Amino acid sequence: MMFQRDAYFVVQRNYEMTITRRTFLKTTLNAALAAAIPVFSSRHAFARSERAVREFRFTARPQQVSLGKGPDFYAWTYNGQVPGPEIRVKEGEIIRVILENRLPEGTSIHWHGLPVPNAMDGVPGVTQEPVKPGETFIYEFEARPAGTFIYHSHSGYQLDQGLYGPLIIDPISESRGYDREYALMLEDWVMKDGGGVAATRRRPPMGMMGGMMEARGGMGMMGGLMGRRGMGMMGRGSRSAPGENEPLLEPLYDAYAVNGRVYPEVPPLMVTKGDRVKLRLMNPSSATIYHLRLAGHPLTITNADGNPVKPLVTDVLRIGMGERYDVEFAADNPGNWLLAAQELGFGESMLQVPVHYRGVSPQRPVEPDFRRGLRMASYRELEALIPSDEPAPRSADRFYTQTLSGGMHSPFWTINGRVYPDLELMVVQKGELVRIGYTNHSMMPHPMHLHGHFFRVINPRVPPYRWILKDTIVVDPMQQVEIEFVANNPGRWFHHCHNLYHMEAGMANLVVYRS
Ligand code: C2O
Ligand code: CU
Repeated sequence: MMFQRDAYFVVQRNYEMTITRRTFLKTTLNAALAAAIPVFSSRHAFARSERAVREFRFTARPQQVSLGKGPDFYAWTYNGQVPGPEIRVKEGEIIRVILENRLPEGTSIHWHGLPVPNAMDGVPGVTQEPVKPGETFIYEFEARPAGTFIYHSHSGYQLDQGLYGPLIIDPISESRGYDREYALMLEDWVMKDGGGVAATRRRPPMGMMGGMMEARGGMGMMGGLMGRRGMGMMGRGSRSAPGENEPLLEPLYDAYAVNGRVYPEVPPLMVTKGDRVKLRLMNPSSATIYHLRLAGHPLTITNADGNPVKPLVTDVLRIGMGERYDVEFAADNPGNWLLAAQELGFGESMLQVPVHYRGVSPQRPVEPDFRRGLRMASYRELEALIPSDEPAPRSADRFYTQTLSGGMHSPFWTINGRVYPDLELMVVQKGELVRIGYTNHSMMPHPMHLHGHFFRVINPRVPPYRWILKDTIVVDPMQQVEIEFVANNPGRWFHHCHNLYHMEAGMANLVVYRS
Protein backbone atom coordinates (compact mmCIF):
# COMPACT_ATOMS: atom_id res chain seq x y z
CA MET A 1 0.00 0.00 0.00
CA MET A 2 2.66 2.41 1.05
CA PHE A 3 4.40 2.06 -2.25
CA GLN A 4 1.31 2.59 -4.29
CA ARG A 5 0.98 5.86 -2.46
CA ASP A 6 4.55 6.70 -3.38
CA ALA A 7 3.71 5.97 -6.97
CA TYR A 8 0.82 8.35 -6.69
CA PHE A 9 3.01 11.10 -5.31
CA VAL A 10 5.37 10.67 -8.19
CA VAL A 11 2.44 11.20 -10.47
CA GLN A 12 1.48 14.33 -8.63
CA ARG A 13 4.88 15.82 -8.49
CA ASN A 14 6.13 15.13 -11.93
CA TYR A 15 3.14 15.21 -14.12
CA GLU A 16 0.80 17.58 -12.34
CA MET A 17 -2.20 15.39 -12.72
CA THR A 18 -5.19 17.01 -11.20
CA ILE A 19 -7.21 14.00 -10.13
CA THR A 20 -7.50 13.06 -6.49
CA ARG A 21 -5.92 9.97 -5.10
CA ARG A 22 -9.28 8.30 -4.70
CA THR A 23 -10.20 8.97 -8.31
CA PHE A 24 -6.80 7.79 -9.39
CA LEU A 25 -7.07 4.46 -7.63
CA LYS A 26 -10.65 3.97 -8.69
CA THR A 27 -9.92 4.78 -12.28
CA THR A 28 -6.93 2.50 -12.28
CA LEU A 29 -8.87 -0.34 -10.73
CA ASN A 30 -11.80 0.11 -13.05
CA ALA A 31 -9.53 0.16 -16.01
CA ALA A 32 -7.82 -2.93 -14.68
CA LEU A 33 -11.10 -4.75 -14.16
CA ALA A 34 -12.64 -3.65 -17.41
CA ALA A 35 -9.80 -4.65 -19.67
CA ALA A 36 -10.14 -8.19 -20.93
CA ILE A 37 -6.85 -8.14 -22.80
CA PRO A 38 -3.90 -7.57 -20.53
CA VAL A 39 -1.82 -5.04 -22.46
CA PHE A 40 -2.14 -1.83 -24.41
CA SER A 41 -5.37 -0.85 -22.73
CA SER A 42 -4.26 2.66 -22.04
CA ARG A 43 -4.77 4.69 -25.13
CA HIS A 44 -8.46 4.03 -24.74
CA ALA A 45 -8.91 3.88 -20.99
CA PHE A 46 -7.08 7.15 -20.45
CA ALA A 47 -7.96 8.99 -23.60
CA ARG A 48 -9.52 11.80 -21.61
CA SER A 49 -6.20 12.54 -19.94
CA GLU A 50 -4.37 15.47 -21.46
CA ARG A 51 -1.18 13.61 -20.71
CA ALA A 52 0.04 10.94 -23.04
CA VAL A 53 -0.02 8.17 -20.47
CA ARG A 54 0.75 4.77 -21.92
CA GLU A 55 -0.54 2.08 -19.65
CA PHE A 56 0.55 -1.55 -19.67
CA ARG A 57 -0.80 -4.33 -17.51
CA PHE A 58 1.69 -7.02 -16.65
CA THR A 59 0.81 -10.17 -14.80
CA ALA A 60 3.89 -12.02 -13.63
CA ARG A 61 3.07 -15.71 -13.60
CA PRO A 62 4.48 -19.12 -14.43
CA GLN A 63 3.42 -20.32 -17.85
CA GLN A 64 4.27 -23.32 -19.95
CA VAL A 65 6.18 -22.05 -22.96
CA SER A 66 7.67 -23.40 -26.14
CA LEU A 67 10.74 -21.87 -27.73
CA GLY A 68 9.97 -23.65 -30.99
CA LYS A 69 12.65 -26.26 -30.52
CA GLY A 70 13.27 -28.40 -27.47
CA PRO A 71 10.88 -29.35 -24.69
CA ASP A 72 7.99 -27.28 -23.40
CA PHE A 73 8.64 -26.09 -19.87
CA TYR A 74 7.35 -23.69 -17.26
CA ALA A 75 9.04 -20.33 -17.47
CA TRP A 76 8.23 -17.27 -15.38
CA THR A 77 6.58 -14.77 -17.64
CA TYR A 78 4.88 -11.43 -18.03
CA ASN A 79 1.43 -12.10 -19.49
CA GLY A 80 2.34 -15.66 -20.35
CA GLN A 81 4.93 -14.79 -22.98
CA VAL A 82 8.70 -14.87 -23.34
CA PRO A 83 10.15 -12.37 -23.64
CA GLY A 84 7.61 -10.06 -22.05
CA PRO A 85 5.45 -7.72 -24.13
CA GLU A 86 7.24 -4.90 -25.91
CA ILE A 87 6.86 -1.50 -24.31
CA ARG A 88 7.17 1.01 -27.12
CA VAL A 89 6.44 4.66 -26.50
CA LYS A 90 7.47 8.12 -27.57
CA GLU A 91 9.94 10.22 -25.68
CA GLY A 92 8.14 12.34 -23.08
CA GLU A 93 5.15 10.04 -22.73
CA ILE A 94 4.33 8.63 -19.34
CA ILE A 95 4.84 4.91 -18.97
CA ARG A 96 2.50 3.34 -16.44
CA VAL A 97 2.88 -0.35 -15.73
CA ILE A 98 0.40 -2.09 -13.47
CA LEU A 99 2.24 -5.15 -12.21
CA GLU A 100 0.22 -7.95 -10.68
CA ASN A 101 2.19 -10.68 -8.99
CA ARG A 102 0.91 -14.20 -9.49
CA LEU A 103 4.26 -15.81 -8.82
CA PRO A 104 4.88 -17.87 -5.68
CA GLU A 105 7.39 -15.27 -4.41
CA GLY A 106 7.94 -11.51 -4.26
CA THR A 107 8.89 -9.63 -7.39
CA SER A 108 9.50 -6.16 -8.90
CA ILE A 109 10.39 -4.61 -12.24
CA HIS A 110 13.54 -2.63 -13.00
CA TRP A 111 13.72 -0.31 -16.03
CA HIS A 112 17.25 -1.09 -17.04
CA GLY A 113 19.16 1.95 -18.27
CA LEU A 114 16.40 4.48 -17.73
CA PRO A 115 17.16 7.18 -15.18
CA VAL A 116 13.77 6.93 -13.48
CA PRO A 117 12.92 8.48 -10.08
CA ASN A 118 14.43 6.34 -7.34
CA ALA A 119 11.11 5.05 -5.98
CA MET A 120 10.31 3.62 -9.43
CA ASP A 121 13.61 1.77 -9.87
CA GLY A 122 12.26 -1.61 -8.85
CA VAL A 123 14.98 -3.03 -6.62
CA PRO A 124 13.47 -4.85 -3.66
CA GLY A 125 15.16 -4.04 -0.39
CA VAL A 126 16.71 -0.89 -1.91
CA THR A 127 13.96 1.19 -3.53
CA GLN A 128 10.81 -0.72 -2.62
CA GLU A 129 9.43 -3.68 -0.73
CA PRO A 130 9.02 -6.77 -2.87
CA VAL A 131 5.59 -6.94 -4.48
CA LYS A 132 4.19 -9.96 -2.68
CA PRO A 133 2.23 -12.77 -4.31
CA GLY A 134 -1.29 -11.53 -4.97
CA GLU A 135 -0.29 -7.86 -4.73
CA THR A 136 -0.29 -5.16 -7.36
CA PHE A 137 2.19 -2.33 -7.77
CA ILE A 138 2.01 0.62 -10.13
CA TYR A 139 5.14 1.93 -11.79
CA GLU A 140 4.93 5.30 -13.41
CA PHE A 141 7.66 7.46 -14.90
CA GLU A 142 8.52 9.59 -17.87
CA ALA A 143 9.94 7.88 -20.96
CA ARG A 144 13.22 9.71 -21.41
CA PRO A 145 15.63 9.66 -23.19
CA ALA A 146 14.90 7.96 -26.51
CA GLY A 147 16.68 4.68 -27.05
CA THR A 148 16.73 0.93 -26.64
CA PHE A 149 16.22 -0.33 -23.09
CA ILE A 150 15.23 -3.49 -21.24
CA TYR A 151 12.91 -4.12 -18.35
CA HIS A 152 13.37 -7.06 -16.03
CA SER A 153 12.67 -8.51 -12.63
CA HIS A 154 15.22 -7.59 -9.99
CA SER A 155 14.35 -10.36 -7.55
CA GLY A 156 16.40 -13.47 -6.98
CA TYR A 157 16.98 -15.54 -10.10
CA GLN A 158 13.78 -14.39 -11.82
CA LEU A 159 15.71 -12.77 -14.66
CA ASP A 160 16.94 -16.21 -15.66
CA GLN A 161 13.48 -17.70 -15.32
CA GLY A 162 12.15 -15.51 -18.12
CA LEU A 163 11.07 -12.19 -16.57
CA TYR A 164 12.35 -9.59 -19.01
CA GLY A 165 11.27 -7.71 -22.10
CA PRO A 166 12.14 -4.86 -24.49
CA LEU A 167 11.51 -1.19 -23.75
CA ILE A 168 11.92 1.11 -26.72
CA ILE A 169 11.53 4.87 -26.66
CA ASP A 170 11.19 6.61 -30.02
CA PRO A 171 12.43 10.19 -30.37
CA ILE A 172 9.75 12.86 -30.67
CA SER A 173 10.91 14.05 -34.03
CA GLU A 174 12.25 11.07 -35.82
CA SER A 175 14.68 11.67 -38.61
CA ARG A 176 14.79 8.04 -39.63
CA GLY A 177 17.86 7.19 -41.57
CA TYR A 178 16.70 3.59 -42.10
CA ASP A 179 13.95 1.79 -43.95
CA ARG A 180 13.06 -0.96 -41.51
CA GLU A 181 14.03 -2.10 -38.08
CA TYR A 182 13.97 -5.21 -35.96
CA ALA A 183 14.30 -5.52 -32.20
CA LEU A 184 16.18 -8.62 -31.09
CA MET A 185 16.54 -9.93 -27.56
CA LEU A 186 19.43 -12.38 -27.19
CA GLU A 187 18.52 -14.93 -24.54
CA ASP A 188 20.12 -17.82 -22.69
CA TRP A 189 17.73 -20.54 -21.56
CA VAL A 190 17.59 -23.48 -19.23
CA MET A 191 14.71 -25.36 -20.85
CA LYS A 192 13.42 -26.92 -17.68
CA ASP A 193 10.59 -25.97 -15.35
CA GLY A 194 11.73 -22.95 -13.39
CA GLY A 195 14.36 -21.91 -15.96
CA GLY A 196 17.63 -20.81 -14.40
CA VAL A 197 16.82 -22.22 -10.98
CA ALA A 198 16.11 -25.70 -12.31
CA ALA A 199 18.23 -28.58 -11.13
CA THR A 200 20.67 -28.58 -13.98
CA ARG A 201 24.35 -28.87 -14.65
CA ARG A 202 26.19 -25.83 -13.38
CA ARG A 203 29.47 -24.25 -14.12
CA PRO A 204 31.98 -24.57 -11.30
CA PRO A 205 33.89 -21.59 -9.92
CA MET A 206 36.81 -20.75 -12.14
CA GLY A 207 40.18 -21.56 -10.83
CA MET A 208 43.44 -21.18 -12.65
CA MET A 209 41.93 -21.74 -16.06
CA GLY A 210 42.05 -18.21 -17.37
CA GLY A 211 45.40 -18.47 -19.09
CA MET A 212 44.08 -20.10 -22.21
CA MET A 213 41.81 -17.26 -23.18
CA GLU A 214 44.52 -14.93 -24.48
CA ALA A 215 45.69 -17.61 -26.84
CA ARG A 216 42.57 -17.44 -28.92
CA GLY A 217 41.62 -15.25 -31.83
CA GLY A 218 43.76 -12.14 -31.77
CA MET A 219 40.96 -9.69 -32.44
CA GLY A 220 41.49 -7.27 -29.58
CA MET A 221 39.16 -7.09 -26.57
CA MET A 222 39.33 -10.83 -26.53
CA GLY A 223 39.32 -11.35 -22.82
CA GLY A 224 36.69 -13.28 -21.05
CA LEU A 225 35.78 -15.73 -23.70
CA MET A 226 35.77 -18.63 -21.35
CA GLY A 227 32.27 -19.81 -22.01
CA ARG A 228 30.13 -22.53 -20.67
CA ARG A 229 30.69 -24.37 -23.89
CA GLY A 230 34.37 -24.15 -23.32
CA MET A 231 33.97 -25.48 -19.86
CA GLY A 232 31.67 -28.19 -21.10
CA MET A 233 34.19 -29.25 -23.66
CA MET A 234 36.75 -29.53 -20.95
CA GLY A 235 34.63 -31.96 -19.08
CA ARG A 236 33.82 -29.66 -16.21
CA GLY A 237 30.59 -28.30 -14.95
CA SER A 238 28.88 -31.18 -13.29
CA ARG A 239 28.43 -29.67 -9.87
CA SER A 240 24.73 -29.12 -9.44
CA ALA A 241 23.84 -28.88 -5.78
CA PRO A 242 25.26 -25.85 -3.99
CA GLY A 243 25.41 -25.87 -0.20
CA GLU A 244 22.61 -24.54 1.95
CA ASN A 245 23.67 -20.92 2.11
CA GLU A 246 25.59 -20.76 -1.10
CA PRO A 247 24.42 -18.91 -4.17
CA LEU A 248 23.58 -20.83 -7.31
CA LEU A 249 26.36 -21.29 -9.81
CA GLU A 250 25.82 -20.36 -13.45
CA PRO A 251 23.84 -22.99 -15.30
CA LEU A 252 25.08 -24.68 -18.42
CA TYR A 253 22.43 -23.36 -20.78
CA ASP A 254 20.37 -25.69 -22.95
CA ALA A 255 19.66 -23.19 -25.69
CA TYR A 256 20.02 -19.63 -26.88
CA ALA A 257 16.97 -17.89 -28.28
CA VAL A 258 16.12 -14.70 -30.12
CA ASN A 259 12.82 -13.16 -29.03
CA GLY A 260 11.85 -16.44 -27.41
CA ARG A 261 12.56 -18.65 -30.44
CA VAL A 262 15.38 -21.10 -30.99
CA TYR A 263 16.86 -21.47 -34.47
CA PRO A 264 15.69 -22.76 -36.94
CA GLU A 265 12.37 -21.59 -35.53
CA VAL A 266 13.47 -17.95 -35.48
CA PRO A 267 11.42 -16.07 -38.09
CA PRO A 268 13.71 -14.60 -40.76
CA LEU A 269 14.32 -10.87 -40.83
CA MET A 270 12.94 -9.92 -44.23
CA VAL A 271 14.82 -7.22 -46.12
CA THR A 272 14.58 -5.71 -49.57
CA LYS A 273 17.62 -4.96 -51.67
CA GLY A 274 18.51 -1.30 -51.16
CA ASP A 275 17.12 -1.13 -47.62
CA ARG A 276 18.98 0.38 -44.76
CA VAL A 277 18.14 -1.95 -41.86
CA LYS A 278 18.35 -1.11 -38.19
CA LEU A 279 18.71 -3.82 -35.56
CA ARG A 280 18.10 -3.09 -31.90
CA LEU A 281 20.21 -5.68 -30.14
CA MET A 282 19.48 -6.27 -26.47
CA ASN A 283 21.16 -8.71 -24.14
CA PRO A 284 18.91 -9.62 -21.21
CA SER A 285 20.79 -12.92 -20.77
CA SER A 286 21.76 -13.80 -17.25
CA ALA A 287 25.23 -15.08 -17.92
CA THR A 288 26.12 -14.89 -21.62
CA ILE A 289 28.21 -12.43 -23.60
CA TYR A 290 27.61 -12.71 -27.35
CA HIS A 291 29.91 -12.02 -30.27
CA LEU A 292 27.65 -11.36 -33.21
CA ARG A 293 28.35 -11.28 -36.89
CA LEU A 294 26.08 -10.99 -39.89
CA ALA A 295 27.30 -13.04 -42.84
CA GLY A 296 27.84 -10.99 -45.97
CA HIS A 297 27.45 -7.58 -44.31
CA PRO A 298 29.43 -5.36 -41.98
CA LEU A 299 27.47 -3.72 -39.17
CA THR A 300 27.50 -0.03 -38.30
CA ILE A 301 27.05 0.78 -34.64
CA THR A 302 24.80 3.83 -34.18
CA ASN A 303 23.80 3.65 -30.50
CA ALA A 304 25.37 2.20 -27.38
CA ASP A 305 23.02 1.60 -24.43
CA GLY A 306 20.51 3.81 -26.20
CA ASN A 307 22.84 6.76 -26.69
CA PRO A 308 23.85 7.87 -30.20
CA VAL A 309 27.47 7.30 -31.17
CA LYS A 310 29.52 8.33 -34.17
CA PRO A 311 28.75 5.56 -36.67
CA LEU A 312 31.39 2.86 -36.35
CA VAL A 313 31.74 -0.05 -38.74
CA THR A 314 32.54 -3.45 -37.30
CA ASP A 315 32.44 -7.07 -38.38
CA VAL A 316 31.89 -8.52 -34.93
CA LEU A 317 29.82 -6.92 -32.22
CA ARG A 318 30.39 -7.91 -28.64
CA ILE A 319 27.41 -7.42 -26.36
CA GLY A 320 27.53 -8.10 -22.65
CA MET A 321 24.68 -8.79 -20.26
CA GLY A 322 22.56 -5.67 -19.86
CA GLU A 323 24.10 -3.90 -22.87
CA ARG A 324 22.18 -2.70 -25.90
CA TYR A 325 23.53 -1.72 -29.29
CA ASP A 326 21.64 -0.36 -32.25
CA VAL A 327 23.37 -1.30 -35.47
CA GLU A 328 22.55 -0.73 -39.12
CA PHE A 329 23.49 -2.49 -42.29
CA ALA A 330 22.98 -1.80 -45.98
CA ALA A 331 21.01 -4.59 -47.63
CA ASP A 332 23.16 -4.66 -50.72
CA ASN A 333 24.09 -8.31 -50.96
CA PRO A 334 21.02 -10.40 -51.86
CA GLY A 335 20.87 -13.92 -50.51
CA ASN A 336 20.05 -15.91 -47.38
CA TRP A 337 22.34 -15.02 -44.53
CA LEU A 338 22.67 -15.73 -40.85
CA LEU A 339 23.24 -13.30 -38.06
CA ALA A 340 24.95 -15.57 -35.55
CA ALA A 341 26.72 -15.39 -32.23
CA GLN A 342 29.68 -17.37 -31.04
CA GLU A 343 31.84 -17.55 -28.08
CA LEU A 344 34.87 -16.66 -30.12
CA GLY A 345 37.32 -19.39 -30.63
CA PHE A 346 34.99 -22.25 -29.88
CA GLY A 347 33.69 -22.50 -33.40
CA GLU A 348 30.11 -23.36 -32.65
CA SER A 349 27.24 -20.94 -33.18
CA MET A 350 25.16 -20.25 -30.09
CA LEU A 351 22.31 -18.38 -31.62
CA GLN A 352 21.23 -17.68 -35.15
CA VAL A 353 18.82 -15.38 -36.92
CA PRO A 354 18.17 -15.75 -40.66
CA VAL A 355 18.26 -12.60 -42.76
CA HIS A 356 16.35 -13.17 -45.95
CA TYR A 357 16.15 -10.93 -49.03
CA ARG A 358 12.76 -10.70 -50.67
CA GLY A 359 12.65 -12.40 -54.05
CA VAL A 360 15.61 -14.68 -53.32
CA SER A 361 14.61 -18.32 -53.24
CA PRO A 362 14.96 -19.73 -49.74
CA GLN A 363 17.93 -21.97 -49.26
CA ARG A 364 20.25 -22.86 -46.48
CA PRO A 365 21.48 -19.53 -45.12
CA VAL A 366 25.16 -18.72 -45.16
CA GLU A 367 26.80 -18.72 -41.73
CA PRO A 368 29.19 -15.93 -40.79
CA ASP A 369 32.85 -16.81 -40.70
CA PHE A 370 34.45 -15.94 -37.39
CA ARG A 371 37.87 -17.23 -38.16
CA ARG A 372 39.43 -14.59 -40.37
CA GLY A 373 41.01 -11.36 -39.18
CA LEU A 374 37.95 -9.37 -38.26
CA ARG A 375 37.22 -5.96 -36.90
CA MET A 376 35.65 -6.07 -33.47
CA ALA A 377 34.63 -2.67 -32.15
CA SER A 378 35.93 -1.81 -28.71
CA TYR A 379 34.70 0.82 -26.28
CA ARG A 380 37.81 2.81 -27.10
CA GLU A 381 36.76 3.31 -30.69
CA LEU A 382 33.32 4.63 -29.82
CA GLU A 383 32.65 8.35 -29.56
CA ALA A 384 29.49 10.08 -28.49
CA LEU A 385 27.65 11.62 -31.42
CA ILE A 386 26.22 14.43 -29.34
CA PRO A 387 28.93 16.27 -27.42
CA SER A 388 28.23 16.39 -23.72
CA ASP A 389 27.24 19.82 -22.44
CA GLU A 390 29.43 19.25 -19.40
CA PRO A 391 32.35 21.70 -19.59
CA ALA A 392 35.40 19.66 -20.37
CA PRO A 393 37.49 18.55 -18.60
CA ARG A 394 37.06 19.05 -14.89
CA SER A 395 38.47 16.83 -12.26
CA ALA A 396 36.14 14.55 -10.40
CA ASP A 397 34.81 15.61 -7.01
CA ARG A 398 34.94 12.06 -5.79
CA PHE A 399 36.76 8.93 -6.76
CA TYR A 400 35.88 5.39 -5.81
CA THR A 401 37.86 2.30 -6.64
CA GLN A 402 36.05 -0.96 -7.11
CA THR A 403 38.10 -4.13 -7.13
CA LEU A 404 36.25 -7.05 -8.64
CA SER A 405 37.25 -10.48 -7.42
CA GLY A 406 36.03 -13.97 -6.92
CA GLY A 407 35.62 -17.26 -8.58
CA MET A 408 38.78 -18.76 -7.23
CA HIS A 409 37.38 -21.93 -5.71
CA SER A 410 34.67 -19.86 -4.09
CA PRO A 411 31.03 -19.46 -5.02
CA PHE A 412 31.14 -15.80 -3.95
CA TRP A 413 31.96 -12.72 -6.02
CA THR A 414 33.12 -9.54 -4.36
CA ILE A 415 33.61 -5.80 -4.73
CA ASN A 416 36.49 -4.58 -2.59
CA GLY A 417 36.38 -7.92 -0.84
CA ARG A 418 32.77 -7.59 0.29
CA VAL A 419 29.85 -9.86 -0.40
CA TYR A 420 26.58 -7.93 -0.68
CA PRO A 421 24.69 -6.99 1.50
CA ASP A 422 27.96 -6.47 3.32
CA LEU A 423 29.16 -3.43 1.40
CA GLU A 424 31.06 -0.18 1.23
CA LEU A 425 28.63 2.54 0.23
CA MET A 426 29.63 4.93 -2.50
CA VAL A 427 28.41 8.17 -0.97
CA VAL A 428 27.85 11.11 -3.32
CA GLN A 429 26.32 14.53 -3.14
CA LYS A 430 23.96 16.01 -5.66
CA GLY A 431 25.84 17.90 -8.37
CA GLU A 432 29.14 16.13 -7.90
CA LEU A 433 31.16 14.60 -10.66
CA VAL A 434 31.90 11.07 -9.50
CA ARG A 435 34.54 8.81 -10.94
CA ILE A 436 34.70 5.07 -10.46
CA GLY A 437 37.79 3.05 -11.28
CA TYR A 438 37.26 -0.67 -11.74
CA THR A 439 40.01 -3.23 -11.45
CA ASN A 440 39.09 -6.75 -12.39
CA HIS A 441 41.21 -9.18 -10.40
CA SER A 442 39.31 -12.21 -11.59
CA MET A 443 39.35 -14.42 -14.63
CA MET A 444 35.80 -13.59 -15.67
CA PRO A 445 34.43 -10.51 -17.44
CA HIS A 446 32.03 -8.42 -15.34
CA PRO A 447 29.39 -6.25 -17.03
CA MET A 448 29.09 -3.55 -14.37
CA HIS A 449 25.82 -1.67 -14.26
CA LEU A 450 24.87 1.49 -12.40
CA HIS A 451 21.21 2.27 -11.85
CA GLY A 452 19.63 5.69 -12.29
CA HIS A 453 22.43 7.34 -14.29
CA PHE A 454 24.31 7.24 -17.52
CA PHE A 455 28.05 7.30 -17.04
CA ARG A 456 30.79 8.39 -19.38
CA VAL A 457 33.40 5.85 -20.30
CA ILE A 458 36.79 7.43 -19.85
CA ASN A 459 38.89 7.10 -22.94
CA PRO A 460 42.24 8.83 -23.27
CA ARG A 461 42.02 8.53 -27.05
CA VAL A 462 38.86 10.60 -27.25
CA PRO A 463 38.29 14.14 -25.92
CA PRO A 464 36.17 14.18 -22.77
CA TYR A 465 33.20 15.88 -24.35
CA ARG A 466 32.92 12.93 -26.73
CA TRP A 467 33.13 10.14 -24.17
CA ILE A 468 30.33 7.67 -24.77
CA LEU A 469 27.43 7.48 -22.38
CA LYS A 470 26.56 4.02 -21.17
CA ASP A 471 24.90 2.35 -18.22
CA THR A 472 26.63 -1.02 -18.44
CA ILE A 473 30.28 -1.71 -19.22
CA VAL A 474 32.10 -5.00 -19.49
CA VAL A 475 35.27 -5.00 -17.40
CA ASP A 476 37.49 -7.72 -18.76
CA PRO A 477 39.71 -10.06 -16.77
CA MET A 478 42.75 -8.31 -15.33
CA GLN A 479 41.68 -4.99 -16.85
CA GLN A 480 41.14 -1.51 -15.48
CA VAL A 481 38.33 0.73 -16.62
CA GLU A 482 37.23 4.16 -15.44
CA ILE A 483 33.85 5.78 -15.69
CA GLU A 484 32.38 9.01 -14.40
CA PHE A 485 28.89 10.33 -13.89
CA VAL A 486 27.19 13.49 -12.74
CA ALA A 487 25.24 12.87 -9.55
CA ASN A 488 21.96 14.26 -10.80
CA ASN A 489 19.35 11.75 -9.66
CA PRO A 490 19.13 11.55 -5.86
CA GLY A 491 18.34 8.29 -4.15
CA ARG A 492 19.78 4.91 -3.28
CA TRP A 493 21.01 3.25 -6.44
CA PHE A 494 21.98 -0.33 -6.95
CA HIS A 495 25.34 -0.94 -8.65
CA HIS A 496 26.34 -4.45 -9.61
CA CYS A 497 27.68 -7.00 -12.01
CA HIS A 498 25.00 -7.89 -14.55
CA ASN A 499 25.99 -11.51 -14.56
CA LEU A 500 22.99 -12.53 -12.46
CA TYR A 501 24.96 -15.28 -10.77
CA HIS A 502 27.73 -12.90 -9.79
CA MET A 503 25.21 -10.37 -8.52
CA GLU A 504 23.41 -12.94 -6.43
CA ALA A 505 26.76 -14.19 -5.20
CA GLY A 506 27.65 -10.81 -3.74
CA MET A 507 29.02 -8.59 -6.53
CA ALA A 508 26.86 -5.57 -5.75
CA ASN A 509 26.77 -2.40 -3.68
CA LEU A 510 25.07 1.00 -3.61
CA VAL A 511 25.57 4.58 -4.65
CA VAL A 512 23.83 6.66 -2.00
CA TYR A 513 23.19 10.40 -2.02
CA ARG A 514 24.01 12.28 1.12
CA SER A 515 21.01 14.39 1.97
CU1 C2O B 1 19.49 -4.71 -15.40
CU2 C2O B 1 20.31 -3.95 -11.58
O1 C2O B 1 19.88 -4.32 -13.52
CU1 CU C 1 30.51 -10.54 -12.82
